[in-house]
Amino acid sequence: MDLPLSLDRTSSTTLQMQLCEQLRGAILDGRLAAGTRLTSTRALAESLTVSRNVVVAAYDELYAEGYIEGQRGSGTFVTRDLPPLPKRTRPEPSGVPRWLRTPAPPDLDVLEDDPNLIVFRIGRPNTALISAETWRRAWNDVANQLPPSYYGAPGGDGRLRQAIADYLGRSRGVACDAADVVVTSGALQAVDLVARATLRAGDPVAIEEPGYPSARRVFTARGAEIVPVPVDEDGLKVDELPEGNDAPLLVYTTPSHQYPLGARLSIRRRLALLSWAERCDALIVEDDYDSEYRYDSPPLPALAGLDQAGRVVYIGTFSKVLSPALRLGYVVAPPPLRERIVRLKRLSDYHTPWPVQRALATFIESGGLERHIRRARRHYAEKRRIVADAFRPVSEFATLRGLEAGIHVFLELHPTLDAQRVIERAHRAGVVVESITEHYLGTLPRNGLLLGYGGLTLDQAERGSAILAKAIREELGSAFANAPPRAYAHRPGVINDAPTV
Ligand SMILES: Cc1ncc(COP(=O)(O)O)c(C=O)c1O
Repeated sequence: MDLPLSLDRTSSTTLQMQLCEQLRGAILDGRLAAGTRLTSTRALAESLTVSRNVVVAAYDELYAEGYIEGQRGSGTFVTRDLPPLPKRTRPEPSGVPRWLRTPAPPDLDVLEDDPNLIVFRIGRPNTALISAETWRRAWNDVANQLPPSYYGAPGGDGRLRQAIADYLGRSRGVACDAADVVVTSGALQAVDLVARATLRAGDPVAIEEPGYPSARRVFTARGAEIVPVPVDEDGLKVDELPEGNDAPLLVYTTPSHQYPLGARLSIRRRLALLSWAERCDALIVEDDYDSEYRYDSPPLPALAGLDQAGRVVYIGTFSKVLSPALRLGYVVAPPPLRERIVRLKRLSDYHTPWPVQRALATFIESGGLERHIRRARRHYAEKRRIVADAFRPVSEFATLRGLEAGIHVFLELHPTLDAQRVIERAHRAGVVVESITEHYLGTLPRNGLLLGYGGLTLDQAERGSAILAKAIREELGSAFANAPPRAYAHRPGVINDAPTV
C-alpha cells in the first residue's frame, strides 16, 4: 500500500476517524484496488507516528463496513468482491479558463490496424525481417549494464553518433564526424527542433505540394506561413521557389524519394536548389527518410553531401529502416544551427533515452544494420514486383508512380474514377488503402491512392493488390455503365510517362 495519508492533530475529528475516512475514500475512488494488501497495523502506526490502537480501530471500522477483509496474522486486503465502483474522474475547470485560449493542437488519429484486414499503411516497415539474434545481442549488451546515474549528452550517445556518422559517410556521401550528429527522438522531433531554432511567427516556409503532412503541421504549429511548391517527375520544381524579398526562409524537401509521389530530385535541380538557397540566404531541410531502399539504381548523393555553403540541414530516421516505434532519428546541421538544436534538445527532453541509443549503437557497430538493409532491400524489391504485376491489367486506369524506391507507391487513378468509392469498395473486400488528398494543401490534388506495402507479407501484398485491382475494375464497370470512357488523358502538370514498372 503506497498511499499518501495525512492526519491533522489539530482537527476536532479523531485520528482514527480521519484515517478511516481517507482509506475508505481511496477504496471508493479506485486508488486502492480490490485485493490490495493493506500495510500491517504496526507498520502503518509507525509511519504515521500514532499509537497502534488508532490504526486497529480504523481497520476495525472498515471491516465492519465490509471494505476490507482478512484474518489476523495472514494480512488485511481490500474486499475482493466489492460491487463495481463509479469511475474516478479528474476535476475539470468550468468554462474555458484563460490558459486554454490558445488554438487547440490538431487531434490526429493513432492508427491501429485490424489484423483481419490487409492494411496498405504508408510508412510501415516489415520488422519481421530484423535478425532476432543480432537484435537480442544488441539489447543484451544494454541489459547487462545498469543505467548511468547522470543525464547523458543532449546531442546523443557518443558511440551512436560515431556509428551514424560512419554510416552516413559510407552510404549517403555525407562527410561528417560524431560531433556533427545530433540524435533525436525521430525525424519529426528533428524537424520541430529545426523549426524552433530558426523560425519566428510569420516566417515563410516552402514545402513540397503534395508533401508530408506531419512536417507541415510542425511548421504551422511554430507559426510559419506555409508556401506550397509543386512537384513533378523530377521532384520539387525549384524554379517555382519565390526569390528576393518573397524568398522563404526555409524549404523542406524529400529529394531521395519525394513524399508521397516518389520522384527523385534530379541532379540539375539539386544544384539549382543549393544555389537558390545561397542566393536567397535560405536553409534547406533535407528529409532523407527512406533513401536506404532504392532498387534499380544507386541513390543520388544527398544534398548535404553536395552542399559547400552550410545551407543544408540533413535529417534521417530509423523508422523505415528498422521500426517507427524506436523513436530514433538524427540531424546533421551546419555548426551554428547545430549548437542551437542541441540546446533546444536539452531544453525539451535532455536527450533521447539511453537504452535505445546504446542498443542501436551496438546493432550498427556489429554490422547488423547494413546486413538488415541488404536483406530488406531484396524483400521489398520482390514485393514491389508483386504489386506492379497486380496492377498491370488495369494500368490504363490506375498507374503506379514512384516504384523505384521506398516502401510505398502512389497509384494514380483515371480522373473518372472516384478514389473514395474505390477505397470503400476495397474496404468491404478486406483491404485498407489511403487517399492522397490529405497530402495536399491546395485544391487541385491528383486523383489516387497511396499504397504502403512495407509492412505486408509477400502473400498479403499479393492478395491485397489483387483485391484492390478488382475493386478498381468493378468501379470502372459501374462508373462507365452509363458513360463510356474517353481515351485516358492526363491533366496538365501530371507525370505523363508510361507506368513506371
Ligand atoms: C517524409 C517522412 N519523413 C519522416 C518520417 C519519419 O518520421 P519519424 O522518424 O519521426 O518516425 C516519415 C514517416 O512516415 C515520413 O513519411
